[in-house]
Amino acid sequence: MTGYILYRHRDIADINKLPVYRKNGGFTAFEKAVKTMDPGAVLNEVKLSGLRGRGGAGFPTGMKWGFLPNNLWPHYVVANADESEPGTFKDREILESNPYQFLEGLMLAAYAVQANDAYIYLRGEFWEISRQIETCIKELLEENILGNNVFGSSYSLRLHVHLGAGAYICGEETALLESIEGNLGQPRLRPPFPAVSGLFGKPTVINNVETLANLPPIIEKGAAWYKTFGTEKSPGIKIFSLSGCVNKPGNYELPLGTTFRELIFNYGGGVPEGRTIKAFMSAGASSVIVPANDMALDTPMDYESTVANLNAPLGSASVIVLDDSVNMAKLVDKTVNFFRHESCGKCTPCREGTYWMNHITRRIVNGKANMDDITLLDSVARQMQGKCLCALGEFSTMAVTSGIEKFRADFEQMVKK
Ligand SMILES: Cc1cc2nc3c(=O)[nH]c(=O)nc-3n(C[C@H](O)[C@H](O)[C@H](O)COP(=O)(O)O)c2cc1C
Ligand code: SF4
Repeated sequence: MTGYILYRHRDIADINKLPVYRKNGGFTAFEKAVKTMDPGAVLNEVKLSGLRGRGGAGFPTGMKWGFLPNNLWPHYVVANADESEPGTFKDREILESNPYQFLEGLMLAAYAVQANDAYIYLRGEFWEISRQIETCIKELLEENILGNNVFGSSYSLRLHVHLGAGAYICGEETALLESIEGNLGQPRLRPPFPAVSGLFGKPTVINNVETLANLPPIIEKGAAWYKTFGTEKSPGIKIFSLSGCVNKPGNYELPLGTTFRELIFNYGGGVPEGRTIKAFMSAGASSVIVPANDMALDTPMDYESTVANLNAPLGSASVIVLDDSVNMAKLVDKTVNFFRHESCGKCTPCREGTYWMNHITRRIVNGKANMDDITLLDSVARQMQGKCLCALGEFSTMAVTSGIEKFRADFEQMVKK
């Protein structure tokens, strides 16, 4: 690859300043779109690019936009900047260091679905970023890149910033909508889906920050160019957040299809000296624990291969490396503790299940459990699976069942202590 596509601030100093962003091609895609392209043509180009949502599910972006009905108005677009998954810190770098590319992407999405209002939902702790984004919006309004009749066209757009209050569940798209509306951040029952009845009951597109930041280069350079990166079914580039027991943790912008081995050893510098890699998680705390054998390490990081080879979704592509110093029972105690704390309490399987799982993991790591507790923990997790209202409940069981299945000896070691 020649140069960064999303993390352009790593090549170009001060690209977070509007004149520098514009000097380097910024807002040419948006100007081209509003002046020379139908909204449908923008949507079609994104469909052709094969871009898939970077928020976790990997759903095709263009197809999602296409679900908005043309007989229900207004349409809204919401940028999901809640980024709270433990191990995920990729959007933060875009927002802090290359904010205009994200904003241009959001504006392109709004134009494509003919929304005149778009919302940016930031996690509560991003209050400094929220100030910076407000400043960016002010500057865009002054330059008539935003507001009424942008670039002298017939299109008008307003952007609104909404700061959350620090709840992980508000990253779930329907809880996020509730939160913007001023309600308790709890997921909605589906159907209806947000594409039909979303924000304020109107058709709404919700996209992740990284998804949106991909749009300006796609519109500027075309879908065919974008598809030269990545794999056939998972085209393009992706930011991988690498953390845990690695020498060089950080965000790595790489083509989809790069292997776990390349990420962890070539880019991340491998595990600390004297240690061996034991396992990894592919999607932050929500992920299964994958034993780091050759097959797993040589698996391409794309939306198909991780599921096919490892039974683990790529999710937000946040790779947590675990070396031989890590006891998986302790790790599972931490993930379960997180999900128990973040469960919104709306449905019984998750509210009670995360509480009881955490009760048992506490017993295990405090050396107060017996062997039956390991089986009980596994049983509670499996009883939750498939029964929760939203994916958080499911996420909370991933490390538990995979940890016990693949690393039971670690749990037994804690029990025998
Ligand atoms: C518990 C939970 C937390 C989530 N947190 C986030 C988040 O912080 N950021 C995000 O973009 N998507 C998050 N998602 C996924 C969103 O619901 C949604 O799928 C995503 O924003 C869609 O954007 P995309 O199509 O661009 O990926 C979360 C989902 C769940 C179930
Ligand atoms: S699964 Fe958990 S987070 Fe999701 S609605 Fe139920 S209680 Fe709330």
